[in-house]
Amino acid sequence: MKGLHIIGVSHAYGDNQVLDDASLMIPAGELVCLLGPSGSGKTTLLRLAAGLERLHKGRIVIDDEVVADPEMHVPPEHRGIGLMFQDYALFPHLSIIDNVTFGLIGQPQDQARRRAMDMLDQVGMAQHATSHPHMLSGGQQQRIALIRALAPKPKVLLLDEPFSGLDTNMRGQIREETLTVLKSSGVATLMVTHDPEEAMFMADRIKILGFGGSILQSGRPHEIYYHPRHEFVAKLFGLMNRFEGVVEGGCVETPLGKIPAKDLGEGRPVEVLIRPEGVMLESDSDNGTPVEVISTHLLGHDNIVRVRLSDESGAKEEEKELYVRIHHTFEPELSKRITAGVDPEYAFIFPTDDLGGMAGAGYTVSPQPEAAE
Ligand SMILES: Nc1ncnc2c1ncn2[C@@H]1O[C@H](COP(=O)(O)OP(=O)(O)O)[C@@H](O)[C@H]1O
Ligand SMILES: [Mg+2]
Repeated sequence: MKGLHIIGVSHAYGDNQVLDDASLMIPAGELVCLLGPSGSGKTTLLRLAAGLERLHKGRIVIDDEVVADPEMHVPPEHRGIGLMFQDYALFPHLSIIDNVTFGLIGQPQDQARRRAMDMLDQVGMAQHATSHPHMLSGGQQQRIALIRALAPKPKVLLLDEPFSGLDTNMRGQIREETLTVLKSSGVATLMVTHDPEEAMFMADRIKILGFGGSILQSGRPHEIYYHPRHEFVAKLFGLMNRFEGVVEGGCVETPLGKIPAKDLGEGRPVEVLIRPEGVMLESDSDNGTPVEVISTHLLGHDNIVRVRLSDESGAKEEEKELYVRIHHTFEPELSKRITAGVDPEYAFIFPTDDLGGMAGAGYTVSPQPEAAE
């Protein structure tokens, strides 16, 4: 297979076990995001793939050729990889074109320059060829770093939090441009990020790396968001509302209504996690559970509303306060009765009787088969 294949990789620094039997496969032309919290071992996996770190256990294969196993180590410059790390530092004393041709050493100079100019043209930077890095904006420098990594036509591109240095406005635009460039290059890309939104935006498939150093779930962005198979995965995307309950008659009763739980045994103790956008608020409706609005926060494209369930709701004290995400402007009139209901599509149920910490096994309402590896 053309692309990157990481098979059963484990890694420890001293007695700090960082990766535990992590595997992933990226065919040419695909972009896989490795998503996990800070310190979960994302950079370590990237460094192992690049050959910047010695592999102790497992195997790394690029275009059907083993480049690392415990006995063998192909050095980074012979792996056919392009690298772009968090601080994508360009060489300050070199012009932009010289930065881009840097990785093309060994090619005839005019051929290298032609390739570099083509790449600069592709990202609309040809007119900056003779500028120096300090003359460019952060976004422009990032673009140059990307094409510098791609110019030698690597088989695999490794990106470590490539957008974290950019401000919010710039980030959206650069992400999109980067995707266009990557898709037209047909390279297999492994991108590491701790930002779930970024992973959702960029990835063909997402791999979730948990603190135990193993991959907890992999799938298309939609599967990861709507069918998290672990509590840990569900919670990666931000605030969750949580209720405890018990499966009865194939459902779990929550203060907001019943949630179907057909795949879980009767009487099983569970927790129900509901995304803020899964709570529906209505005014002057006979449906739903009465709530009191505590505050609303405009986030730009949507609002976060904090509401409180009444004492009659039956909710435990710690479960009474809820977060609701709504897309329209929400200005509740004090006189109006506000009620809350739930959209089960955004509700996930996990048994609490066999959870071994954050990364324990979990079940959603309808478990999905994992993407074929
Ligand atoms: N060179 C190193 N020597 C010792 N420990 C390291 C080294 N690099 C990373 N670590 C440790 O390994 C763990 C994972 O780090 P890293 O791979 O950088 O995580 P992430 O990129 O997900 O934030 C952390 O606990 C970190 O302190
Ligand atoms: Mg890192």
